[in-house]
Amino acid sequence: MYSRIAGTGSYLPEKILTNADLEKIVDTTDEWIRTRTGISQRHIAVEGETTTDLAEHAARNAMAAAGVTAEEIDLVCVGTTTPDLVFPNVGTLLQDRLNIHGCPAFSLEAACASFLYALGVADKFVRLGDAKCALVVGAETLTRLVDWSDRGTCVLFADGAGAVVLKPAEEPGIISTHLHADGKYKDLLLYPDGVSLGFNLVRAGKAGVRMKGNEVYKVAVNTLGQLVTETLSAKGIDKSQLDWLIPHQANIRIIEAIAKRLDLPMERVIVTIETHGNTSAASVPLALDAGVRDGRIKRGQLLLLEAFGGGFTWGSALVRY
Ligand code: UT7
Repeated sequence: MYSRIAGTGSYLPEKILTNADLEKIVDTTDEWIRTRTGISQRHIAVEGETTTDLAEHAARNAMAAAGVTAEEIDLVCVGTTTPDLVFPNVGTLLQDRLNIHGCPAFSLEAACASFLYALGVADKFVRLGDAKCALVVGAETLTRLVDWSDRGTCVLFADGAGAVVLKPAEEPGIISTHLHADGKYKDLLLYPDGVSLGFNLVRAGKAGVRMKGNEVYKVAVNTLGQLVTETLSAKGIDKSQLDWLIPHQANIRIIEAIAKRLDLPMERVIVTIETHGNTSAASVPLALDAGVRDGRIKRGQLLLLEAFGGGFTWGSALVRY
């Protein structure tokens, strides 16, 4: 038994923040942001717009694309680092919005790799016969964690959501998933406050994402390079067989480096970073949905999804769409 992607969906909040807008907030330029990151604009959740709101739109789009009703969903798994509440979890809040009752619903947190983690977990539920129709979401309001005085990070992050519906299949589908983490890198990319620390930095107005960008960049390129090699060699697949790379959208230069490693021309890479920015857990399913909806990604094609984030956490999936 395998799982296959029956439908995809996504959603971006309406409010757009351009590089020109950021020039008015911090000491930066449109030119610096575009050449160093590839980002021109990003979507931002307005006050009161939550991760569950974004997840609900993306989930409904994916369910419509898959042709499934709420009654059919028997697993809700949301990857996110920015939950609405400490609890109930976003999976449960989303389940309620969709009027689904009784099935397992949870969120899991692995920073920018959260969607790949959620996909890996949900795939196993389906493969084991424990779910027949799994809703898997990556949703984020990451701009809520941003320190708007830190030009090194505030120009990068954005909000959004993407979703897939997984159904059982006799042929893959999800061919394999590969999940990794190494907490020794915890100090390179983090939000240094939380529940059990008492939110003291938040209270003092000193919280915000902290990143040693240059060091993260080097480890990301290296690690993702190894990850794509591992993903292909696990099933004896040659890089020439790949149709699409669907990478985490953190930096266009990282994306180009991984495409080069795979000998893939950029025409076979789904790139959304220019208009989406880095939406963390949402970035891969947003890019997947963009490629599906504009007709580039077709049924039967071979896709490699990958992401890398704080922890560090990283993960990939090889998918026959
Ligand atoms: O999604 C999770 C994983 N995250 C990532 O993979 C992100 C990885 N890192 C990166 O993408 C890049 O490191 C950044 C885009 C964050 C930064 O690019 P960089 O080429 O590594 O720049 P840098 O940090 O080495 O900084 C170069 C210069 C510095 O100035 P000095 O010291 O050379 O005078 C920075 O202060 O650029 C300066 N700088 C900026 N200048 C204008 C940093 N941020 C900005 C800014 N505008 N927004």
